[in-house]
Amino acid sequence: MQRIGIIGGSGLDNPAIFTKPRDLDIETPWGTLESPVKAGRIGSKDVFLVARHGREHTVPPTGVNNRAHIDALRQLECECILATTAVGSLRLEIERGDLVILDQFIDFTRRRPLTFYDRFEPHAPVHTPMADPFDEDLRGELIDHCKKMGIKHHEQGTVITIEGTRFSTRAESNMFRAWGADVINMSTAPEAILANEAGIPYAAVAMSTDYDCWKTDEEPVTWEEILRIFGANAEKVTRLLLETIESL
Ligand code: ADE
Repeated sequence: MQRIGIIGGSGLDNPAIFTKPRDLDIETPWGTLESPVKAGRIGSKDVFLVARHGREHTVPPTGVNNRAHIDALRQLECECILATTAVGSLRLEIERGDLVILDQFIDFTRRRPLTFYDRFEPHAPVHTPMADPFDEDLRGELIDHCKKMGIKHHEQGTVITIEGTRFSTRAESNMFRAWGADVINMSTAPEAILANEAGIPYAAVAMSTDYDCWKTDEEPVTWEEILRIFGANAEKVTRLLLETIESL
């Protein structure tokens, strides 16, 4: 692969990872992006970075224009998308700072566009298979590089994506655990759905930053805690992306 898209989540959208960076303003049928796409090189690859919440973190989860993000990367002819995301852990064994190479999602969002197909062409409905929404080859590359680099990681994980902007209640957090979710965030489901609709292989590296609120011997999650933990661990995700992208 030569052209790689990255969608960077909160604190994981650092354009300093590029050489020869430049800004691209991309128009899409779904509107413009909050911030320009940062284009640059990582080794021999052309890489295009979308800051999911905008460069100044001005877009709350419900307002993220996932259709514009995926469409922009499609226009830029990206052959795959690597996403990063901060997540809460719903399992004791997924500790703060651990990476999870997601393999399933549960979509618990409520107020977001979930498809490029608001209308079908006559007699041409589109229903995209979604049994395995994360690309196995990309997942394998990420896992191999985590192993080589000695980064603590989990090879599988089901993320539940909630609408936000609020965090979950304790009853919700316990329900999500009972449903089989391993981690929780506010971003993956619609993004992964749209990447699949667009036919672009997609994988996501999740960084565990907190234990949400199910773990009653700890304080419930706060935004300040999330910021602190990913500040201390963001460099791990950056190194993983740099190494993985070189080898794609
Ligand atoms: N992102 C990081 N931690 C989270 C949590 N506990 N709930 C929702 N999104 C998150």
